[in-house]
Amino acid sequence: MKILIAYFTMGGRTKKTAEAIASALATHEVSYFPVEITGKFIEKIKLLDKFENKDFSAIETELNILDAASYDLIIFGMPTYGNFPPKAFDEILARMGNLSGKKAIVFNTARFTGGKALEYMKIKVEEAGAEVINQRKFRKILWIGTKNAIKFGKQINEK
Ligand SMILES: Cc1cc2nc3c(=O)[nH]c(=O)nc-3n(C[C@H](O)[C@H](O)[C@H](O)COP(=O)(O)O)c2cc1C
Repeated sequence: MKILIAYFTMGGRTKKTAEAIASALATHEVSYFPVEITGKFIEKIKLLDKFENKDFSAIETELNILDAASYDLIIFGMPTYGNFPPKAFDEILARMGNLSGKKAIVFNTARFTGGKALEYMKIKVEEAGAEVINQRKFRKILWIGTKNAIKFGKQINEK
């Protein structure tokens, strides 16, 4: 299967989780669509603020070439911001267009909650036409490990 992992990360936890899942997808061809907010704290906050106000000009080039057509399975990985995924999630999904006939998996990372955000992701991905075949919340208050993500990746790999 051709798998696309679309993720957003500001602190690295979602990226780490996405890469741990991918490490277990040994029999599949995996590509990434990463949206990473990097740099100094103040720069990160400024860019996050832009994104949350639906200004995606900083990643317009990447979004323009985003093409989900050739993938069988799309995995969406997002952090949790106030019980929702970041606005970049909605933008990535909108840019993918109609996902009819595709399979999808949603996961999120969170410190305290996350369930509501994951449900939101599932509903939106289904509205785009994909069949959500699995979902997982990775919730850790402090250090997020890779054990559960690798286990989740193995489950996906064997299916
Ligand atoms: C602005 C902001 C809002 C957040 N809101 C929540 C929240 O509502 N619930 C929660 O459990 N964690 C919340 N968190 C924690 C992040 O979801 C969590 O640390 C996530 O794993 C970060 O992923 P990242 O390191 O890939 O950016 C929030 C973090 C930030 C920066």
